[in-house]
Amino acid sequence: MLNKLKQWKRQQNSEDVDERFQELVKHPIPGHVAIIMDGNGRWAQKRALPRVAGHHEGMKCVRRITKLANELGIEALTLYAFSTENWKRPKMEVEFLMKLPEEFLGTFLPELVEENVQVKMMGNKEDIPPHTLKAVSKAIEATKDNDGLILNFALNYGSRAEILDSIRHVLNDIQNGILDEKQLNEEIFSTYLMTKELKDPDLLIRTSGEIRLSNFMLWQLAYTEFWFTECLWPDFGKEQFTEAIEAYQGRSRRFGGIKSEES
Ligand code: FPP
Repeated sequence: MLNKLKQWKRQQNSEDVDERFQELVKHPIPGHVAIIMDGNGRWAQKRALPRVAGHHEGMKCVRRITKLANELGIEALTLYAFSTENWKRPKMEVEFLMKLPEEFLGTFLPELVEENVQVKMMGNKEDIPPHTLKAVSKAIEATKDNDGLILNFALNYGSRAEILDSIRHVLNDIQNGILDEKQLNEEIFSTYLMTKELKDPDLLIRTSGEIRLSNFMLWQLAYTEFWFTECLWPDFGKEQFTEAIEAYQGRSRRFGGIKSEES
């Protein structure tokens, strides 16, 4: 009896989630969603599995969320897949993480091409193993003519390093007379960042209950709406994604100004 009740509740809930998901498009959809996919290790630990099993499950979740983002007409989805600090992890875990893009793209690239997704990558290419870069470059090339969702993997990415590199590049351009120092403003500086082709994220999601940015898109997140959840990344699905977008839709974005009706 109890099981039947649980089953009924689950069914009601999933119908409810589907309905709520369909409703989302009636309100403004964030153009760019960035996600710090956290909690893979804890997900595995809770099941007495090795940490890498959590990363593997996390990879499946990437597929799930890409599909949902595409369905909603989100323009760009940036996923923090490997940070410049993640090299400090055990060698075996790093190697596993570096194989995931290959496995993901080896399995799903035909579907991504079919679904009009454009694969992109941002991060320092040095230090990324050639086999990982090869898989990503192949996907970028195969999807370059698509014009749907941009699926942007942050791989060996660190925001402070990105900003420093941009400053070096700006100084170099000033020295070479390519850029006039007086013209330098936020808009121009943004074109020196790895995200130059993307608008700033409208919504940042971080899973697993951690409430920090961990060196992720520090410049780009200046006016982004943040949404944190206790849910571990491998458990993140339609329900949580819907909840995040609903929360975004309930926010009042003023970008430092006031709402127009208040003026
Ligand atoms: C943080 O969780 C997660 C990572 C460092 C890796 C994220 C990578 C994926 C979700 C898969 C990426 C897939 C592709 C296709 C590139 P954690 O290990 O720090 O978790 P913990 O805090 O619970 O230990």
